[in-house]
Amino acid sequence: MAASEKWHDLGEVDLLSNTPLQQITIGRTRIALTYKDGRFSAISGVCNHVGGPLGSGHLEGDYVVCAWHHYKYHYATGKGEPGYEDDRVPRYELKLEGGHVFINLEAQTTRSKPHHDPHPLARPIHREPGVPRILGISTTAMDAAYPRYSTSDALLMTALQHAESLGAQTRLITLNSLRFRHCEGYYSKSAHACTWPCSITQMDPEDQLDQVYEALIHWCDAVIISTPIRWGSASSLYFKMIERMNCVQNQVTIANNTLIRNKTAAFIITGGQDNIQAVAGQMLMFFSELGFDFPQFPFIAHSRGWSAEDMENNVAFVQRNRELHDGARELSKRTIEKAQALIDSNALTRIERGGRKGHHMETE
Ligand code: FES
Repeated sequence: MAASEKWHDLGEVDLLSNTPLQQITIGRTRIALTYKDGRFSAISGVCNHVGGPLGSGHLEGDYVVCAWHHYKYHYATGKGEPGYEDDRVPRYELKLEGGHVFINLEAQTTRSKPHHDPHPLARPIHREPGVPRILGISTTAMDAAYPRYSTSDALLMTALQHAESLGAQTRLITLNSLRFRHCEGYYSKSAHACTWPCSITQMDPEDQLDQVYEALIHWCDAVIISTPIRWGSASSLYFKMIERMNCVQNQVTIANNTLIRNKTAAFIITGGQDNIQAVAGQMLMFFSELGFDFPQFPFIAHSRGWSAEDMENNVAFVQRNRELHDGARELSKRTIEKAQALIDSNALTRIERGGRKGHHMETE
């Protein structure tokens, strides 16, 4: 046996030939073994992208498709798909002896990863000097062609206008006007399959949630999120957005990378019926897990109560009610003050064991 040969018995031919593509781990080496057209082939089972298990993907013609984000490699040569041949994973030599498949664990080719410019959102986070920057996110859904009066939007506008009058810079994102895909559960494949920026953002240039990521991670010092109450919960667009923010929280888990530092969050919640406490509780929990701080009394809310069905009166009430709009202005002021205090202190340079219940996560 040559010095460069390290043969290992993978198992019986009869057994291994039952599966067209499989992931096999031998010590620290992961292999994608294929059985195609009566022949075995083996390439590395580790994808060049972020290490997805190639052998757990599927075969598409002559290509192994990664289980995580669908990069493709030739099943026998390990080369990338046409146009991306330089993006290559190692291939391995096989032999059949005594009804068994053997693999030489010394790879026959090397891995090649051409340089890809990182996504712009992946740049280091650096706060430009300046006045506090307040982001408003409206999560109410409505017919864009026939917009109606939204009580949560109205209070958000009051809050943002007040922030500007106090010298802050403001920006408004209306989720209803963005086209973005639902979270497709990359995290459910593996924590490492849920990437920063979001896998969807990296793969789909048409997806517009990058605007939220850009403003939230790189631009704002504070965010005020408004939501209506729909059957006792925040709006469906709110949940559609926060599911896509798993990638922000997941960075804490898989990379000890806290993307949110020294930022403040506050909330405006309005609805016809009730359940304000539960809606606020969910919002506070989620944004605390992202790493946000809160002003004292971090939300304002209004509902007419469980048995109220007079929604036209509810709209009129919010339009007229000075107290509620004063409340939005005060929330805005508290949020700016908290944001400014965090900017001035710049205290949180590193947080140990934040999030994930304080556990150290073994994710390798
Ligand atoms: S495509 Fe393989 S890890 Fe992303």
